Amino acid sequence: MIVELVALLLIAGGLFEMYKRNGSRIKLVESTRHAINYQVSNVMGIAADIINKRKNHLGLVKPLYGKVAIVTGGSRGMGAEVVKSLYLAGVHVIIAVRDIEAGEKFKEKVKSESVKTADRSMVVMKLDVSSMKSVKKFSDEVKKLHPEIHILVNNAGVLFADFKLTEDGFESQLATNYLGHFYLTHLLMDNLKRAGENSKECARIVNVSSCIHYCSEIWFDDINMEKCHDPVGGYARSKLAQLMSTRHLTRILKAEKAPVKCYAVHPGLVATDMFYKTPMFKNLGWMGKILKSPEAGSVSILYCCISPELENRGGAYISNCQEGWSTSFSKNEEHQNRLHDLTCQMLKIKSFGILE
Ligand SMILES: NC(=O)c1ccc[n+]([C@@H]2O[C@H](COP(=O)([O-])OP(=O)(O)OC[C@H]3O[C@@H](n4cnc5c(N)ncnc54)[C@H](OP(=O)(O)O)[C@@H]3O)[C@@H](O)[C@H]2O)c1
Repeated sequence: MIVELVALLLIAGGLFEMYKRNGSRIKLVESTRHAINYQVSNVMGIAADIINKRKNHLGLVKPLYGKVAIVTGGSRGMGAEVVKSLYLAGVHVIIAVRDIEAGEKFKEKVKSESVKTADRSMVVMKLDVSSMKSVKKFSDEVKKLHPEIHILVNNAGVLFADFKLTEDGFESQLATNYLGHFYLTHLLMDNLKRAGENSKECARIVNVSSCIHYCSEIWFDDINMEKCHDPVGGYARSKLAQLMSTRHLTRILKAEKAPVKCYAVHPGLVATDMFYKTPMFKNLGWMGKILKSPEAGSVSILYCCISPELENRGGAYISNCQEGWSTSFSKNEEHQNRLHDLTCQMLKIKSFGILE
């Protein structure tokens, strides 16, 4: 009874938020469907986090000296926790951020709080993942410095942005959460493969997706949602695209026998700045207290970055350090192929992972 009441309150809160935001682009039926699915995903996600709390752990982290990792959006939220843990394990971490000053401040704080050793290092580099020009510039600079990239964490994200097209003409949430990371992965593929070839373990790509992918499907004939946009649907679609592309890329890598593995992860429902913007928090602030901390949220992401248990499980969708539940749409290979082709066309990529 209490669970049903909370779910009803959450749905009502989401609908009210949608009603306030309702503009000419929004078709109320779609928005309502997304709002309901979103609140159901939240309730299910929180319940799963509570039930699986004990499974959300990493085990012993062995030193990872000599490895190079990139974490996008690495100066705040879960990205910052991932950076800290990799840095402490001896990985050279590239903190990829759009605000260099904030990145440097975070870096100095982490350094001042930890014991300095010769094996620990990190740098801050500029990356606005919503701009394909910035992604290209960032990857060019990284490649000059590092022929081998062992871990790429596609973590940066925005949530519930109103409709806006980026300088490249892409819907902003799709561009930030999905397209920019897809392009970055394409540009760094040679460096990832080289790292895998020269190491005992495969290189890893970790796409930080979400259980919210459940809320939506990809609209292939309106990928930018120009005919019908709502912030929840836009976010859900971008996270679904990340998950589908993880599975598609896994098939490409397997066919090539490439020493690179790709994973998608739902970190849990986590009390970060991102969450504080949601209707759920605005209407039911106390819910923040039962969410995961950013540190607990980073555990499943780190598990995908380093756990030996996943070495032969490319394409896994991880939640609380175990296989998570995902929709049949996300598993459909035809949909995955179609999304891949459409994405390459949008980004003018002739052959994924191959640079002319
Ligand atoms: N929190 C949750 O409950 C939850 C649940 C499922 C999945 N996720 C996913 O987890 C990931 C991390 O989220 P979080 O909760 O840690 O959020 P957060 O605290 O809001 O952090 C988001 C990070 O992304 C960066 N970012 C945003 N737009 C960017 C851009 N254009 N270029 C480069 N960096 C950009 C932000 O940098 P600035 O400092 O420059 O803004 C920030 O570092 C996201 O992909 C999110 O979708 C979160």
